[in-house]
Amino acid sequence: MKIALRLFVLLITLAGGVYLGKVFFGRSTSIPAPMPNYFKASSSSADSSAMGAGVVTGRTFNIKPGQSIQEAVGKAKPGDLIRIFPGVYHETVYVDKDNISIQGVIDGGEWPVLDGEKKLNDAVLYSGNGVLVENLKITNYKGNGIMGQAGNNYIIRNNWIVGSGVYGIFPQFGKNGLVERNILTGIEDAAIYIGMCDNVDVRFNEVYGNVAGIEIENSRHALVEFNYAHNNTGGILAFLTPGLPIKTCADVIIRNNYVYNNNTKNFGAVGSTVSHIPKGTGVLVMAADDVTIENNIIFGNTNSGITITDYAFAGINHANDPDSDPYPDRLTLLDNFMDNNGTDPIDEVKVLKKATFAKPGLDIIAAGGGNGNCIVNPDRYITIGLSKYASCPPHDTHLVTSYMLDKPVRPRATTDLEKGKMTYYGVCSGCHSYNTRLIGPPVSVIQAMYKGNAKGIYDFITKPTHKRDDYPEMPPQNYLSEETRKAVADFILTVQK
Ligand code: HEC
Repeated sequence: MKIALRLFVLLITLAGGVYLGKVFFGRSTSIPAPMPNYFKASSSSADSSAMGAGVVTGRTFNIKPGQSIQEAVGKAKPGDLIRIFPGVYHETVYVDKDNISIQGVIDGGEWPVLDGEKKLNDAVLYSGNGVLVENLKITNYKGNGIMGQAGNNYIIRNNWIVGSGVYGIFPQFGKNGLVERNILTGIEDAAIYIGMCDNVDVRFNEVYGNVAGIEIENSRHALVEFNYAHNNTGGILAFLTPGLPIKTCADVIIRNNYVYNNNTKNFGAVGSTVSHIPKGTGVLVMAADDVTIENNIIFGNTNSGITITDYAFAGINHANDPDSDPYPDRLTLLDNFMDNNGTDPIDEVKVLKKATFAKPGLDIIAAGGGNGNCIVNPDRYITIGLSKYASCPPHDTHLVTSYMLDKPVRPRATTDLEKGKMTYYGVCSGCHSYNTRLIGPPVSVIQAMYKGNAKGIYDFITKPTHKRDDYPEMPPQNYLSEETRKAVADFILTVQK
């Protein structure tokens, strides 16, 4: 298995090298993808896996309606560009290679549309590094719009994702990424979901009519800036969620955003973390550390403008994960424009308000523990629970213009164990939990059935057969590489709680 993996990596590297050595541009009649200026450094590098997204050094494939995007991805080599012309496509695109650019062509206002027809789970899934996805309209998928797994140096921009599943844009476990100028609506969980990532900029996006607009979860060094988050249940969130393999969420700057009227009734799946978010939540920080909230306009959110909470107040049980620190520490609340928030808070907040005889309305509530937090000019706002907050020393974040890195980073070296773990938490746990029934049967039941038989699990997930009348069919997982399927089959047998 290790040998197969090495061989695969070698092939990818060789292929990348060969194509980098040739010049294909002259042969194409199409316009090359604009090269984003974020990554200039390494187009001359022989190591294609450390190239930035959107650097096109290879061939261009032009895909028209009736043709398959996936087929082109299958033929593509690192450095190639796949252009998708206007029209409707019903497919899931899996990108398991490095440096593939997927670019919609917008022509006279016509966009390419990926339509899952409420049958397909995901529109675009990538696990390669240096992947660019831009200019697509994505609708009617049940799971993810654009999801990445362990792909570094990604760019996801200029996409519309409308009424499409549980997560809209969901880079998971990737380093050095950019999510900008996307519009997302009608997503049941988080529209933009930065999960277990490092060094990411999320900017100039509009998110509305979702349960969670933008969620930074268990990630580090995230800049969330110039976004318009309105009419969600919760606008912008920074969460440390227990039970995940990454145990910190820290160094998040939430700056220059418009966070308006996030008063949509919560329509998240029962039991999901976001189903606990009260409607009327502007910005929500749960157990994340070193979060700076600066220069936002936070207006008309009926529960509270900014909510800062530990696990206990949020009703999150973390008994199974003692490594997750339940408290939000070292928060910096700088100047923000806040008004007309907290006009109709949830009952727990009403009780707190009564106890403090506060004026009507609520801009900021800090509930539960947390240390080293500070605020500038607290008297400007209507607040609860800030008595322990110090006055911030003179400070702003203008020196941070981006959290992306100057140069693309190398791919994450993932061991089989990490791969299995990531895939379990990233893919399987959406439908399987340890001891309760979700969409699929509990993991404890699977473990009892398949004790010592990882191969049996591998075979099943590669080509599931319908077994239980009272459950839907499980979608095949054969888009995951053989190694990944083996790794997750091993891992699911070791999951405890
Ligand atoms: C979209 C939801 C979904 C996802 C994602 C999912 N499963 Fe399932 N899984 C199901 C459903 C539904 C069943 C029950 C199917 C049946 O009984 O016909 C099931 C059943 C199973 C079974 C039991 C097979 C048997 O012999 O009864 C195993 C093992 C399994 N899943 C493993 C996995 C693994 C590993 C992953 C992650 C790579 C995964 N599943 C991802 C929905 C899902």
